[in-house]
Amino acid sequence: MRDLIERLYREHTLPPDKLRILLTQCDEEHLTLIRQKACEVSQKHFGNKIYIRGLIEIGNCCHNDCYYCGIRRSNSHIERYRLAKEDILACCEEGYNLGFRTFVMQGGEDNRLTDSRMIDIISTIRKTYPDVAITLSLGEKDTRTYQQFYEAGANRYLLRHETHNEQHYRLLHPSGMSLSNRLRCLNDLKQIGFQTGTGIMVGSPGQTVDHLIEDILFIESFRPQMIGIGPFLPHHETPFSDRPAGRLQQTLLLLSIFRLMHPQALIPSTTALATLLPEGRELGILSGANVVMPNLSPPQQRYKYALYDNKASMGAEAAEGLKLLDDRLKAIGYAIDKSRGDYFEETTI
Ligand code: 5AD
Repeated sequence: MRDLIERLYREHTLPPDKLRILLTQCDEEHLTLIRQKACEVSQKHFGNKIYIRGLIEIGNCCHNDCYYCGIRRSNSHIERYRLAKEDILACCEEGYNLGFRTFVMQGGEDNRLTDSRMIDIISTIRKTYPDVAITLSLGEKDTRTYQQFYEAGANRYLLRHETHNEQHYRLLHPSGMSLSNRLRCLNDLKQIGFQTGTGIMVGSPGQTVDHLIEDILFIESFRPQMIGIGPFLPHHETPFSDRPAGRLQQTLLLLSIFRLMHPQALIPSTTALATLLPEGRELGILSGANVVMPNLSPPQQRYKYALYDNKASMGAEAAEGLKLLDDRLKAIGYAIDKSRGDYFEETTI
């Protein structure tokens, strides 16, 4: 096991059979070792700096019906909302004043949020704040729409593939959604020039070690600039309400594996991990993550963007709690970095 970890650290890759050993036989002692190695790598590239992204949840209306997600169409028990352009701009203003230089606009797949409205919002933010990075996380769109979002001034796009296994994808999503379209989207985004993020939920219903290996290999070949990894957490109004949450140890192990395989990737310590347990955010960072995404949405709307139960959005998870976040990061030897934090590939000559 120790040799495998050393090899992953040195070569940034492992064959599938070795990944299987790592995923199935990693005990406490070796988890500690791989997390130390992952931190060593992130510190080499990013020092003790953690990038911050201001997360604006622009609406929870969604025409999709993903079985795991609390804002799925069939959930008739949530109050739906859609932020107006002015609300979004107010979030940006507050965020900019707090020091954020990346805004992430995330929302459900909402037909009423038309491309032209979105393009107008993106270009206004681009004009108002020429120095910020604009990240979108709005799901599957057609190629032309992505192109127009990019031309309007968006720089980055987050779209988790969720699972790279066809059957598993069908278990998590209703018919009408397909892995092939998800992958088409990811390829488009990269081709267009977006810094592109993808990723999975750890411990999603039906996920096996084989699936995880497929995911690791897909991410290795796709080489995303961002990798989002968080535990699956059940939501009481979904078909998966009684499924167990993803495991902490497995989530930390995967974070470390991704850090060792993708030394320069931007890897957030996710809200889901911070929701799983109070010190989750710190444990993510101490497993190789180098980004946090505090919530910049209007506080009175936050509870409505419930992808899973008890989603953290206050305290150190809130944009207005930046000081608290910084204190907590300092307590583990890290500090907030307020720069844009673009992906930067060091080339070896
Ligand atoms: N638990 C954890 N993560 C979830 N997401 C959606 N629902 C859940 C859940 N129940 C994640 C998905 C999606 C991202 C926006 O949130 O991976 O891509």
